[in-house]
Amino acid sequence: MISTTSDYLISSEGDRQVRRMRLLLQKKVFQLPQQYFDQQISGNLTSRIINDVNILRNFLTATIPTTVTGIITILGTVIIALFLDWKLTLLMLLVFPIDAAVTIPLGKINEKIANQTQNSLGALTGITSEGIKNIKTIKLNKAENDLVNKIVAEINNLFNLSLKSDRISAVIGPLQSMLSFCLILLIVLYGAIRVKTGDLSTGTLGAFMMYFFQVIGPINEVAMFYSDKKQMMGATQKIREIISKTPEEELSSSPKTIKASYDFDWLQLQNVDFAYNSIPILENINLEAHSNEKIALVGATGAGKSTLVNIITRLYPINKGKINLNDKSYLDFSLEQWRGFFSVVLQENSILSGNIRTNLTLGLNRKVTDQELWDALAIVQLKDYVSQLPNCLDNSIGEEGAQLSGGQRQRLQIARAYLRDFKFLILDEATSNLDSDTEKVIMTALDKLTQTKHCGIITIAHRLSTIANSDRIYFLKNKTIVASGTHGELLEKVSDYRRYVHEQQLKEKR
Ligand SMILES: Nc1ncnc2c1ncn2[C@@H]1O[C@H](COP(=O)(O)OP(=O)(O)OP(=O)(O)O)[C@@H](O)[C@H]1O
Ligand SMILES: [Mg+2]
Repeated sequence: MISTTSDYLISSEGDRQVRRMRLLLQKKVFQLPQQYFDQQISGNLTSRIINDVNILRNFLTATIPTTVTGIITILGTVIIALFLDWKLTLLMLLVFPIDAAVTIPLGKINEKIANQTQNSLGALTGITSEGIKNIKTIKLNKAENDLVNKIVAEINNLFNLSLKSDRISAVIGPLQSMLSFCLILLIVLYGAIRVKTGDLSTGTLGAFMMYFFQVIGPINEVAMFYSDKKQMMGATQKIREIISKTPEEELSSSPKTIKASYDFDWLQLQNVDFAYNSIPILENINLEAHSNEKIALVGATGAGKSTLVNIITRLYPINKGKINLNDKSYLDFSLEQWRGFFSVVLQENSILSGNIRTNLTLGLNRKVTDQELWDALAIVQLKDYVSQLPNCLDNSIGEEGAQLSGGQRQRLQIARAYLRDFKFLILDEATSNLDSDTEKVIMTALDKLTQTKHCGIITIAHRLSTIANSDRIYFLKNKTIVASGTHGELLEKVSDYRRYVHEQQLKEKR
């Protein structure tokens, strides 16, 4: 009864700790800097966040209660045994160091196996979820076998690790029994000698042996605690690593309070350098963008245009230089405040699973009327399409918008970006999948509306018609901005730009 109650109390406290850990971990993960995610396989990371905590739960709700109940039983029995005969009791307690001699070295092996098992489980989840997410690519490249081979290799790896663990369990039980048996022999022998010398009665020896048999099981369980703890530590290495990481906010700013009412309308980058993992990508970047202005970033593929967006929006910290809004440094703003100034359509697909409405209102912390949503959809020429869907705004669109066309996805992303409150709208190849006519209609509408909102637009595009009418074009080459001006000025003065435009025109004609 007592042990059941203590088991419940301890395991329910364990569950509370697990809940606390899950909340802490999930919150922490989404605060980690972008660089951390660049190095992870998403499925793998997901698996670790979920499965590692399961191991912790097992430790807190099974190992700890068993150990505590075991200790209570041992203490109770030892006290009675001491009254019976203290010498025999000391002999009985010898079982602890003997057990420890077995379980302590085991701990190290268990820790390693547990860590490898969680890694392997993570890798298996990562491969499987990546395969499912990219099933079209897998099918069209006839890569099913490659995928299956990778999965089989990981399953075999897991199997081998489980066998190792099974072998340890298979050895540890009999080894503990053998040692206990030796100890029983020792106690019986010692007891018999003392009975013979009249120092101990047969009844006391019998009673003592009864207590010994009662306590030997809990002693063996308690002796496993160290090894189990090591195993848990090995399995939870990754979540401890996540928890100990510095959140991106603390890494990149020391925000002072800046009044939200202050009207920022001038973005400036001064002598900015940036490297990904110490590989220089941008050097000495100088750039300005004002509200009511439409600027463009142009350059060959891989020149660093999207990277510029990444550093402007502080997804990555710069290595040198300044980024300012009016006279305030970006370091003076909290990340949340800073990112609130920009609304970005990323080059990659950024539609989430859910429906049209949840995608449009993603992250918006204000009430949005249906009319506002329809107006935004009208700007991007999606109103007709959405209104004929069975559930209109609430129509689900599949994972990452799988049920939409490439151009529809892009337009939905533009509508989402438009609905946010921003000072600068950044469009990174946001209209690359649209036909020129639709693009023109959308861009003209956006230009007009952002002007009435007193906002600026920063456009990145290879297609010349998208950027030709910009107020200023920044031309990126060899990691830096080699020229800026209107399309006409650049064509006239910059031979590299002329060449770029010529090549682009050839591509567009093809
Ligand atoms: N997360 C990253 N980690 C490391 N290197 C990166 C990362 N993202 C981009 N790069 C590298 O930075 C360089 C610039 O990439 P970026 O995406 O900024 O080019 P881009 O000008 O936008 O090209 P595109 O016109 O093809 O979109 C490339 O060499 C790329 O390999
Ligand atoms: Mg890009």
